[in-house]
Amino acid sequence: MVVSSGTIDSLLKEKEQYPPSAAFRKAAVLRSDSFRVDAAKDPEAFWARMAKELAWMAPWSKVLEWDPPFAKWFVGGKLNMSANCLDRHLAGPRRNKAAIIWEGEPGERRVLTYHDLWREVNLFANVLKGLGVKRGDRVTIYMPMIPELPVALLACARIGAVHSVIFGGFSARAIRDRAEDAESRLIVTADGGYRRGAVLPLKKIVDEAIADLDVVRHVVVFKRAGVEVSMREGRDHWWHELMAKADADCEPEAMDATDPLFILYTSGTTGKPKGIQHSTGGYLVGVATTTKYVFDLKDEDLFWCTADIGWVTGHSYIVYGPLANGASVFMYEGAPDWPEPDRFWRMIEEYDITILYTAPTAIRAFMRWGDEYPRRHDLSSLRLLGTVGEPINPEAWRWYRKTIGGGRCPIVDTWWQTETGMILITPLPGVTTTKPGSATRPFPGIDAEVVDEKGLPVPMNKGGYLVIRKPWPSMLQTLYKDPERYKQVYWSQVPGKYFTGDGARMDEDQFFWLMGRIDDVINVAGHRIGTMEVESALVSYRKVAEAAVVGKPHPVKGQSLVAYVVLKKGEGRSDELKKELQKHVREAIGAIAVPDDVYITEKLPKTRSGKIMRRVIRSLVSGQEIGDTTTLEDPGAVDEVRKWLAEVEAHPE
Ligand code: WTA
Repeated sequence: MVVSSGTIDSLLKEKEQYPPSAAFRKAAVLRSDSFRVDAAKDPEAFWARMAKELAWMAPWSKVLEWDPPFAKWFVGGKLNMSANCLDRHLAGPRRNKAAIIWEGEPGERRVLTYHDLWREVNLFANVLKGLGVKRGDRVTIYMPMIPELPVALLACARIGAVHSVIFGGFSARAIRDRAEDAESRLIVTADGGYRRGAVLPLKKIVDEAIADLDVVRHVVVFKRAGVEVSMREGRDHWWHELMAKADADCEPEAMDATDPLFILYTSGTTGKPKGIQHSTGGYLVGVATTTKYVFDLKDEDLFWCTADIGWVTGHSYIVYGPLANGASVFMYEGAPDWPEPDRFWRMIEEYDITILYTAPTAIRAFMRWGDEYPRRHDLSSLRLLGTVGEPINPEAWRWYRKTIGGGRCPIVDTWWQTETGMILITPLPGVTTTKPGSATRPFPGIDAEVVDEKGLPVPMNKGGYLVIRKPWPSMLQTLYKDPERYKQVYWSQVPGKYFTGDGARMDEDQFFWLMGRIDDVINVAGHRIGTMEVESALVSYRKVAEAAVVGKPHPVKGQSLVAYVVLKKGEGRSDELKKELQKHVREAIGAIAVPDDVYITEKLPKTRSGKIMRRVIRSLVSGQEIGDTTTLEDPGAVDEVRKWLAEVEAHPE
């Protein structure tokens, strides 16, 4: 991989600064930077101090065993994640506090107190046991955003089963591949879930996914939508029937801190998704600590992270981080514009939500829909705002601050990844003076740096690769069943340092400015899509010989996908073809991976060694400057690609 200052240098040079208000600072959990300074002196001691706030069944003998690139945190320690999120709170005043306040898309409301949630989790843990699930077994979960989803996660954690959640937008084939890779014997799903007034038929999609997958022995189905489903005798079970028969108590399993808690598949630079594997102890310490300090979390807060639990953001900041802190979490099932574009603001007003954590793509959509929708509601309960998932443009940042935050709420722009498990670069809201568009500084105990291709630090305000120099508690343990790929993807680009795949620069205040992915991963509406994954889906279509997929800037989604497709000999273009190809990608991966633009072409531009010149195509499509290193291999390449693009775009399908 090459990086050039031409392609990576940031154009953002914002000068504005926003210190936390005196009122916010006065009440904040953290008021001075001494926390960061202390952590930097001895990160292991810092993390051990954070870990001591949690419930351990046996103490650790070693905070960190670092056998690069494999880290083991809290070695020898034993604990249970669900006991930390639930049982721990039952002995005190949080026993009857709301753990989850939920609203369904059609408008139903449910409140589960910590005691309620604990009860449900015990019952469902016994259901899983009754179906033969044992410690270490993998359970696939494909559910709508209903309280039973966190119940399923926590029940797995209680018995030491490893969950693998698949986002509800993924297709049958995507479920099949992931369940097969994880060798899941059991899938938890629902008959359906609501999205924009319609029912997404989850059980039907699961049926299709596992039709020829023998490894899956049981499917547990929660009745959410009341739609007709077919239930296969012996394999399929209704959630409510099993729960009615289950024992009420399930002792939490004493897990090693280094036992895996979950795997979560994410897109990489090849056609095959990576199973990111997270630990129990280190992960808990990382998410519990960051939730408390990044979101300045207090007992009175109602915390709303709008992500889906199908993504890591939901794992860490809807389920594990907030519940480990005994917080009240708000959860919503459906779309932000249903039945009208003021749905979020109406719920914030009605429930007095205090902290809102959402994605820049959502903020840009809200801006487009117009200020009238937030203006209809009293948003004065909000006291802190957060963003995650992609770089936020300063304009969206300022709109968020003014229109949603009423100018009084600090914004935490949090940078992290599925792999990092927890937030790594972020403001501390009572401490950091923020600049619109910058995720500011590493969280205490995190050592981040911007380097060139040789791994040497780049000068101030120069673009380079973002790397992390030291292990952190919630870093991925490995790629499931593929430690070699783990080494190669994350630890071989810049030897000895964790390679994030993101470009960044550091400014004169040592603030980090994230500049997007520098590998073949594209961030579409905050979701990571591997271009190779989409390409292999396209090539699996019977009429397609070759495909190249690149990202181009999009006003709401950040980036959108553009596909260039070469047909097999004898296949003719037709008006329907673009739709056929889009449908095919939807079936192969899911709606989130469907290219907005599809161009049919005679050939793809390649280097002399036969590689498709994706980077050159991408740069030209995005209107970015082309760095000189990109073209070293073939000096005529840029002109060639430019000519090719002009021809292709002259004949859109
Ligand atoms: C991008 C989501 C800029 C980045 C938690 C990263 C961001 C990828 C930010 C991970 C941010 C996430 N500023 N870019 N605040 N947060 N990203 O695995 O490119 O779905 O590598 O994890 O999102 O996406 P993932």
